[in-house]
Amino acid sequence: MPKSISGFSKLTKDEKINWIASTHFTNAEEATKTIKKYWNSDTDLQKLHDEFIENTITNFYLPFGVAPNFLINGKNYTFPMVIEESSVVAAASKAAKYWGSRGGFKATVLNSEKIGQVHFIFNGDTERLTAFFNQIKSKFFSETQSITKNMQKRGGGILDIELRDKTSELENYYQLHATFETKDSMGANFINSCLEQFAKTLINEALQSDVLSEKEKNIEVVMSILSNYVPNCLVRAEVSCPVAELVEKNIENPQEFAEKFVRAVRIAEIEPFRAVTHNKGIMNGIDAVVLATGNDFRAVEAGIHAYASRNGKYSSLSHAKIENDIFTFWLEIPLALGTVGGLTSLHPMVKIGLEMLEKPSAHELMQVVAVAGLAQNFAALRSLTTTGIQEGHMKMHLNNIINQFEVTDSERILIKNHFKTNTVSHSAVVDFIAEFKR
Ligand code: HMG
Repeated sequence: MPKSISGFSKLTKDEKINWIASTHFTNAEEATKTIKKYWNSDTDLQKLHDEFIENTITNFYLPFGVAPNFLINGKNYTFPMVIEESSVVAAASKAAKYWGSRGGFKATVLNSEKIGQVHFIFNGDTERLTAFFNQIKSKFFSETQSITKNMQKRGGGILDIELRDKTSELENYYQLHATFETKDSMGANFINSCLEQFAKTLINEALQSDVLSEKEKNIEVVMSILSNYVPNCLVRAEVSCPVAELVEKNIENPQEFAEKFVRAVRIAEIEPFRAVTHNKGIMNGIDAVVLATGNDFRAVEAGIHAYASRNGKYSSLSHAKIENDIFTFWLEIPLALGTVGGLTSLHPMVKIGLEMLEKPSAHELMQVVAVAGLAQNFAALRSLTTTGIQEGHMKMHLNNIINQFEVTDSERILIKNHFKTNTVSHSAVVDFIAEFKR
């Protein structure tokens, strides 16, 4: 059977599965059975999911967990979290409970500006291009009126458009660099539609210009697209309390804990190898809530990591200090999120996630997501600087290890009881099972 195919997209779902199963699997029947086992028996629901993307053959489950007890700016939340990794939800829950009794989290949206660019090539005099741009600038606004009128009613729209000269980096390269306010939508479609109209306006106006020379009138638009780097769409999340109040199980000496914690954050600030793992821990919380609320985690990831490198070296997204015996831990991240549009009104579990958060505005969701990142980072750093990460993580991961073996319910209880007081590792579980099966 050839391993490439023309017209695959035109096949029915069953035909697609047959081709895949017979082409790529040694046991085609078994593969087909597994693929179809994950179909939803509710055919309308299945159709909805099939149509989210192209060439859908089945569903891929991820657990939808919840972390209660998040107190943010005096309001209680239960976080919906979609993630495959054990111990993340437990860690978030534990951090929520811990900070809930120490004043909770404070979160602030610092600004919410989105960015889009028309990248174009202009072969001519920069001063004349600038004069031309200033002459036609208002046309970019007027010719996008049909796209922007609804957004304007909601208080958003195009904020500004600048001409940027990038010729020192690439020959004849300029940009229309536009900023937008998109209120409760992430704004990708809105921004891209505006940008494509800007590009048309730019080309048409250039052809009719009395400022540009004949040669300069042939502006070449390379592309028009939003930027997922949104350093002016920022949210800050913070926790703080007197150092003495940090005391808890495994934190018998709060001063020592606070100092070690601050040093651990400092290491992530100066050492990129550590910063990447440190920020990965933050993304455990961020991605889980972003996914549960139907937002674009790839855009969020790309934007946040670019922000972590903004000073020329990849660094920690979070920071910590002790000042006047007060411990403060905070992060500041760029987040372009939506609570309307996209999957938010389509995916039934996204609707559940958003309703669980009591239908937040985009600003409120930015605060929730930033707090999820900070809480996760706190939990990981607390473990790392006290017991080590493996104790708690492996305790949560134990079920996954046990599930790799055939054990009865009573054997499962026996294993769990044994590992309440013994260190969990894959080999320790294997040895223990082998011992009692002997
Ligand atoms: P513990 O102290 O053993 O938990 O912590 P506990 O049994 O005393 O329970 C305390 C609270 O924790 C509970 O309160 C829950 O809120 C939560 P309660 O509900 O009883 O009122 N909790 C749970 N929630 C749901 N299901 C559970 C559960 N157990 C406790 N089964 C814990 C155990 C795992 C929470 C702790 O050890 C911890 O926070 N560890 C950190 C785990 C972590 O960060 N995991 C992320 C994966 S590792 C990683 O990828 C990131 C990393 O590389 C990042 C970095 O390097 O910075 C580490």
